[in-house]
Amino acid sequence: MSDGPQAAAAITAVPVIAIDGPSASGKGTVAQAVAQALGFHYLDSGALYRLVALAAMRRGLDWSDETALAALAAGLEAQFEGENIRLAGEEVAEAIRSEACSAGASRVAAVPGVRLALVTRQRDYRQAPGLVADGRDMGSVIFPDAGLKIFLTATAEERARRRHNQLKQKGNTAKLDDLLQDLRERDARDSARSVAPLKQGPDARLLDTTCISAAQAVAQVLDWYGAPR
Ligand code: DC
Repeated sequence: MSDGPQAAAAITAVPVIAIDGPSASGKGTVAQAVAQALGFHYLDSGALYRLVALAAMRRGLDWSDETALAALAAGLEAQFEGENIRLAGEEVAEAIRSEACSAGASRVAAVPGVRLALVTRQRDYRQAPGLVADGRDMGSVIFPDAGLKIFLTATAEERARRRHNQLKQKGNTAKLDDLLQDLRERDARDSARSVAPLKQGPDARLLDTTCISAAQAVAQVLDWYGAPR
């Protein structure tokens, strides 16, 4: 087809801001606010892994069944619409945030076939006028040509404290120490896996939010992007 290369060039010309970092670092909050400020689309790539985990748990799949998990990811019936996230038509935005789903997502995310099955789906989010994508491998694997790459993090203690506050507001009585241990386990699994491990890329800017507010983090990203404020 004659318009193939031109169409491909048009797609890669769409700007991407890649925000990677560990669990509960606040990257979702920051990425969404940046997307809103710029009028860009937003990709929560972690939600895809959470959806695969939820679907796997419901089918009773074993975390070691790589073939079945990859097939599940390839056929994932996911829909995102604002705050709503649906799995095969069912609203699951709340369900995928459970601690069980968080742990499951970290397991399925270590399966190479699952990651591969989700690549095209993530790249399809690159639509004009631009995209803010958050995850672990946005800058390294999914959008290596992103114009701005950020590694957004905070200490494990601060991340556990934030998660604890979030859960408390929802009436959940999870213990801070347990949350901290879960976070550390997930960090270790996400960082040690062989495919797309969690780490700051050489071309990513470090944004440590331990001592700054979400608003300050958003302002910093917009500043780096060169957006007028
Ligand atoms: O960002 P999150 O906590 O919603 O991510 C859930 C899990 O998915 C987490 O264990 C890391 C994994 N993940 C990943 O491996 N790659 C991504 N691009 C996004 C998330």
